[in-house]
Amino acid sequence: MNAGIIGLGRCLPEDILTNFQLEQRMDTSDEWIRTMTGIEERRIAKDDQDTSDMSREAAKKAIEDAGIDPAEIGLILVATVTPDQPFPSMSCVIQQEIGAVNAAAMDISAACAGFMYGVITAKQFIDSDVYKYVLVVGVEKLSKITNWEDRNTAVLFGDGAGAAVIGKVSEGRGILSFELGADGSGGKHLYQDEEDHLQMNGREVFKFAVRQMGESAINVIKKAGLQKEDVDFLIPHQANIRIMEASRERLGLPVEKMSKTIHKYGNTSAASIPVSLVEDVEEGRVKDDDVIVMVGFGGGLTWGAIAMKW
Ligand code: ACO
Repeated sequence: MNAGIIGLGRCLPEDILTNFQLEQRMDTSDEWIRTMTGIEERRIAKDDQDTSDMSREAAKKAIEDAGIDPAEIGLILVATVTPDQPFPSMSCVIQQEIGAVNAAAMDISAACAGFMYGVITAKQFIDSDVYKYVLVVGVEKLSKITNWEDRNTAVLFGDGAGAAVIGKVSEGRGILSFELGADGSGGKHLYQDEEDHLQMNGREVFKFAVRQMGESAINVIKKAGLQKEDVDFLIPHQANIRIMEASRERLGLPVEKMSKTIHKYGNTSAASIPVSLVEDVEEGRVKDDDVIVMVGFGGGLTWGAIAMKW
């Protein structure tokens, strides 16, 4: 039996920040943001809703959705670059609160590819029968490291959390193949500066993302022994609609076969793939037996992709 996702949950802050509101705060326009990125609005967490709060809410929903006893969770992995504090880790903070009293806990720092890193790490522990269930959370409160004076980055990001319980699923289903990678030489293109603000060379990240997302998607399809035509649905990291479209076209999929939440939530980094997956499953775009490809990239530089039978 393969490792697969057996429960999903998400948490999105209530407050919406629209492009029109950003127009009032900086020299930008709704038209520029929509055309260049596909983003129309994003969610921004209030001061008293920190990363651990969003993680906990998403995690509780995923555990409920999986219908498991939290005491059976063997490991908690929280992927984030915006923890409440460096330590204790977010996974330790939520461990007690969700009742996962028997779980080991650690955070993963792989930026927007963090959820892919988490799920693929979880798979190793499930496949080797070390743990029965692993909880993976992708969460970000990017608003707290956003430089609101910098229009190059401030318009791109949003806050949120998505969570998945990984366990064994029936034969033929679950994770069929995966790929993980990193290129530290590109770290200079996307990083947190001394003032704790996010800095980005958008052009370089864009080029890397278009190349890597397409390649990783193709690689996991091949590794799973499949053809492009076998893929039913693509869930790319929601960073920029133009990057997402390039991956979709590389796979030859029609528009309706690609997940799209970027217009509502912006780039929520590690949360973007699980948040999108929750909506695609809830709204029937991902159905039983569908072959889905999830692919993410981020600061580091990092990337990760998974082919999965739902
Ligand atoms: N509003 C209006 N104009 C703007 C804005 C804005 N918000 N931001 C930039 N511009 C202007 C620039 O100043 C520039 O003007 P100029 O030509 O007069 O100098 C012009 O728009 C073009 O700017 P570029 O940066 O060259 O535009 P580009 O085509 O590269 O698009 C973008 C910018 C959308 C940021 C793109 O580079 C991109 O999406 N890159 C990838 C970003 C990404 O995916 N990041 C992932 C982060 S993942 C993680 O780990 C957190």
